[in-house]
Amino acid sequence: MLATKIRTAFTPCSLGAWPTPLEAQPALARALGLSMLWLKREDLAGGNKIRGLEFLFAGAPPKSVFVTIGGTGSSHCLATARSAAAQGHRTAVATFPQPETETSRAIAAATDRAADLVVRACAMVTLPWAVLRAWRAARRLGSGPPRWIPGGGADPRAVLGHLLATLELGTQLDAPPDTIVVPLGTGGTAAGIALGVAWLGWSTDLVAARVAPPVVANRWRTLRLARKTAALIRQTGIEFNVPRSAIRVRVVDAMGKGYGHPTREGERARALAAEYAVRLDPTYGAKAFGFLQRADVNVQRVVFWHTFAWP
Ligand SMILES: Cc1ncc(COP(=O)(O)O)c(C=O)c1O
Repeated sequence: MLATKIRTAFTPCSLGAWPTPLEAQPALARALGLSMLWLKREDLAGGNKIRGLEFLFAGAPPKSVFVTIGGTGSSHCLATARSAAAQGHRTAVATFPQPETETSRAIAAATDRAADLVVRACAMVTLPWAVLRAWRAARRLGSGPPRWIPGGGADPRAVLGHLLATLELGTQLDAPPDTIVVPLGTGGTAAGIALGVAWLGWSTDLVAARVAPPVVANRWRTLRLARKTAALIRQTGIEFNVPRSAIRVRVVDAMGKGYGHPTREGERARALAAEYAVRLDPTYGAKAFGFLQRADVNVQRVVFWHTFAWP
């Protein structure tokens, strides 16, 4: 089985309880005019970023120091800091400001508690200096050289985790969904799903709802990550042949004024989901879920990737 081969070849550490449930939401589906809606509950395993971190931490000696970046309310930074601590590692994080919401404040506070060091840039333009300070400090925090994790964990090794999530989905459904909806930030999650859909031979439309600026969140970058991951798998000798044309993603814009700024469409979606006890965050989940409320959307059997874990 592909999942076992990948686990054997890349020896991820264990940070989450897999598989995450696939939850049917018939009442919410009816409210949206869909024939069926399922939630892939990545939130229950600590959020989508845990999938990637299992692979990014693989093989790191004890007390390694990881350096990464994100917005002040970045769940990637929080997941990295918490997971690193759980594995006996350390973290230094450089952050840039993002609009303050109740959610982003809660994440920032939790990150301050979980990370060994947080260097806050006061604006996006000064982020490189914050990274430099975090990197220098990281050299003093641990025994070996610091290890870099790109923003959002967008690395082909992390994409492996999201590919495994999609293979899981393949065992949880009797027939392919016609659409999968996922928030698109740095692209790793969507890349893994795209690869999984291609491997499963599904004709499912993968809709990646862009919640960050196009320079970060775009189709080209996502597909490139997916292809690099496919190459990484093949390098280990695992047979992984998916035609390039089968790796597909459809990017739709859901960002509004900017990353982290709540949108009217997103907040409307968040309110509807809340009526059915589905709790979405304003930065990712709500904006992506908003896609399902658009008048011009004609989808029926939908899987929504529920990515956000409350701190
Ligand atoms: C809660 C949540 N959902 C979705 C995403 C988007 O994932 P990706 O950056 O892999 O596109 C992120 C990224 O940080 C996230 O924190």
